[in-house]
This record gives sequence, structure tokens and C-alpha cells, in this order.
Amino acid sequence: MTDPWWRDAVVYQVYPRSFADANADGEGDLRGIRARLPYLKDLGVDAVWLSPFYPSPMADSGYDVADYRDVDPRYGTLADFDDLLAAATAADIKVIVDIVPNHCSSAHPWFAEALAAGPGSPERERFIFRDAPNNWQSQFGGPAWTQVADGQWYLHLFDAAQPDWNWRHPDVVALFEETLRFWLDRGVAGFRIDVADMLFKDELLPDTTPPDGVAEQLEWTPAKETPPYKHQKELFPLYRTWREILESYPGDRVMIGEIWLDDQELKREYLAGDGLDQAFNFTFMATPWDAADLRAVIGRSLPLAHAQPWALGNHDVPRAVTRLGIDQALVRNPTAEVLRGEVEVDRALGTRRARAAALLLLALPGSTYIYQGDELGLPEHLTIPDELRQDPMFIRMGGAFIGRDGCRVPMPWAGRRAPYGFADRPVDTWLPQPPDWAELTAEAQQADPGSMLTLYRQALRLRRDHINGAFAWLDTVPDADVLAFTRGEGFACVLNVGEQPVTLPAHLRVLLASEPLDGGVLPPDTAVWLDLAK
Ligand code: NOJ
Repeated sequence: MTDPWWRDAVVYQVYPRSFADANADGEGDLRGIRARLPYLKDLGVDAVWLSPFYPSPMADSGYDVADYRDVDPRYGTLADFDDLLAAATAADIKVIVDIVPNHCSSAHPWFAEALAAGPGSPERERFIFRDAPNNWQSQFGGPAWTQVADGQWYLHLFDAAQPDWNWRHPDVVALFEETLRFWLDRGVAGFRIDVADMLFKDELLPDTTPPDGVAEQLEWTPAKETPPYKHQKELFPLYRTWREILESYPGDRVMIGEIWLDDQELKREYLAGDGLDQAFNFTFMATPWDAADLRAVIGRSLPLAHAQPWALGNHDVPRAVTRLGIDQALVRNPTAEVLRGEVEVDRALGTRRARAAALLLLALPGSTYIYQGDELGLPEHLTIPDELRQDPMFIRMGGAFIGRDGCRVPMPWAGRRAPYGFADRPVDTWLPQPPDWAELTAEAQQADPGSMLTLYRQALRLRRDHINGAFAWLDTVPDADVLAFTRGEGFACVLNVGEQPVTLPAHLRVLLASEPLDGGVLPPDTAVWLDLAK
């Protein structure tokens, strides 16, 4: 049996609202994505993951789904989806879609029915209505319960416009089974499962002790791994059923869970082979630029490496270039001051480190996810005026967290000023682009041998031919600030996280370096791929 395609795949995350805007209304769309497939082909990715494009009031940019089996008119139609899928398939790029099973939108017809039907009705059973709330906090800040006109409260672990489903209700189970089949029938290669660890809540809905604070609400730095709304045992049989559905279709279809969890033993339960295939390695994403920390998280992740895709970013965390350019003590929890641009960000340093980090990531065993724009080295947009911010986290958490809009800014494709080819005419984009992105467009980087885009392209090409053997740490470089490892006999990756140059191990030739090398010496904040050609 050959390995499934996703085991070592490079998957590109498209955030549809901000990728490419074919109809120039200021928001991206499916035809825009289709038109940019040649760019993705040229980049060298194996698959795309599309964040939600389903009908939605956009209270959480599409993670509030009003209809799981259609396309929001702002993004196009189901026919546009089919065209995109066909064109991607023709280009040998697989398509993964996002499934949002923890909650729907308050505009979902079943929620409207539940509100209308009143307390004690079967319609309310599909959600979690109670006469009194417990002390749970929303992941977006504030209480996780909202009271309705007749006095009952409903649970929403995210925004009030995202009521949580009751996963112990057969209608909910059936709704999602049909939804999986709907997209599988259309030809998708798999699903990214939103909030995959929270679908079931402890039936008694016990208070969290101590009550969740802000740290617990910032979902990308979970301080508490096992609150009563996470990792309930019913999840595992559910994902086994989903796996059976996927396996009833030809080829290898993947299920990758969004699970913010460092505990490898618990993670293994999700990845036991008959449930989810993969769950992101978020611990890696939140690791400071420190050799010991990086070595520790990589070491810990290795036994499950192929089941835990590496990533430097996604639409929920500050951009890597910015994260790596700030005081590394703040990486796990960048303050509002950082994300407002009130604290110094060394963008040149962040970019240099992000280049090195890309080579590290792409050399490790397993698959890698690239968030759109990271291949262009986009920084976080730090100066979005408050009145233009869209993220419900900003609204619900205000001072404590500024929100995720800064990494969701529309892509710069070409030209000297906004919208930088995102649309082909002047238009106010749904989030503003910064005035200084002209040098960061795909067009500007295209032919520049020193650009981030060129580095990614070269890396993805070389990865295919050179990086497939077994992983082993290479201890011939004993420097504490250096990470070095081999993949099989002939390939090594060496990363210098420290401030002093280090001597490279013996090699036949340099395949790729994140910065120009000075003879046999590896400068600070630089990674290199070596052909050992034994
Ligand atoms: C995780 C998604 O990635 C994020 O963008 C969203 O806000 C929450 N889940 C709620 O769906």
C-alpha cells in the first residue's frame, strides 16, 4: 500500500474573503481563486484548504454558517465551486473544505425554529438551551451564554451569533453526515474540522474551576487543556463514523482537526488510525525563536509527525514575520500594544527568521500548511483603524486582545497601490490594505531571486526530490543555538537561531539557503539545506 497523499503534502490555506476578488466588490470570491490557480501551481502546492465560503451573515467571517451546503452569494455559486474544483483537479491540486460542526450561525433556519418554538420544545433540543447559565466564558471573551426573550439561555463557546449544536441530538449527527457526503460527492479531497475538540460538552455542564480567565479565552494560547467542553469521549466514535463515510469514497480523503492541544497522549486518542488523520501542530506555531524550545517541541512531536502538520500561521494568529520580529517573550501572547504597532517590531529580523523557519518547517517529516500570504512574507497589518475592524474577538475583548483582522488583509498581487491587484479596479476592500505593500506583491517578488516567494518556490521544488528519508538529529554541530538534522543519508537541514555565525557540517553542496552564505559559515537566523551525497 502506498502512503496517502496527505502524509507529506504541502497544503495552501486560502481565506476566500481575502484571496482574489474577480468581481471587484472588495471581497474575494471563488472565481478569483480559480483565476489564481496557475500561481498556486507555480508555487508547487499539493492541495488547497478553503476556509468557509458558505452562506453566512459574516459575524465571524464565515465561521458562522447559515447553510452548510451552499455558497454565499458574495463568493459565487455552487456552479463556481464545481468549476473551481474541476480546474484545481486538472492542475493536480486537491481541494479540502472547512467543516464547522461545533456551532452554526444564529441565522441557520434550525436556530430560528428553536427560538420560535420556545422552552421545552424539540426544536430547542438541537441546541444547548438552559434556564440558567454556568460560568463558562466564550473563547472570544465575555460569557458563553446569551439570554433570549422568553428567559432561557443558549450556549455559544464563540460569538453570540454562533449557537453551539447539541451533538447528542440525532438530527445534528445526520445533518453533518449529509454535509460530508454532499461535498464528497462534489469531489473534495477532505475536510478541515473547525474546533474539532469541543463538539461534545460534559453533560452536567459543570462550572470550570477556577473560572476561565482571558488566557483561556485566547484560543491560540490555551492555558487549560481539559476544560469540561473539550475532549469528551463521545468525539472518538463520532470521528470513526465520519472516517467510514470518507472511506466509502474512492481515494484517500483526509480529515484534519483544529485541536489546540500539546498533550501528545491525548492527541493520540484522536489520531488512533480510525478517526481523524491529522491535527495541526499549534504548539510549534506558538514557540518562541529559541533553539532549546524549538528542539523540544519538534522532539515531542516527532512520534506523531505525519499526523500533526506543521504551520507558521493561519487566519487566527499574528503573521509569522511580525511574531518573529517582536520580543520573543511575547510570542505566546502578543499584547494589544504589539498588534496596534505601539511596540517596536523589527520587520527585517522577523522576515529573516520567517525565511529560516520556512526551510526548517519544510524539511521536517510530515505535511506543512502555508497560510496565504506567508509565502510573500506579509507582516501583520498593525494600523487598521478600530472602526474598520471586523473580528468579533476585537468587539468582545476590546482592550485585552485586538483581534485577528491584521492577518486577514486582502492579498497584494500586483501594482503600486491598493487594492494591489486583489481586484482589477479601485475598490474599498473589506479590510484595508497597508499603504506600503507595493514591494510585497506577488508581481514584485516574481523575478526577484532574493524574495520570499522565490525562496518558497525553490524550497517546494527541492523538497520533492531531496527530502523523504528518515529523520535523525545531527549532533556534529554541537552549538546550543543550532538545530541540525538529516533526512536519510543525503540531506541535512541546519538552522542557526543564535547571534553568532557557525561552521557548517561537511557537505557536497548547498541546495538552498535562507540568506546568502559566507563560505562554509552559517550566519545568525539562517537555515540551509545541504546535499550530503553520501
Ligand atoms: C476556529 C477558526 O479558525 C476561527 O477563525 C473561528 O473564529 C473559530 N474556530 C470559531 O469557528
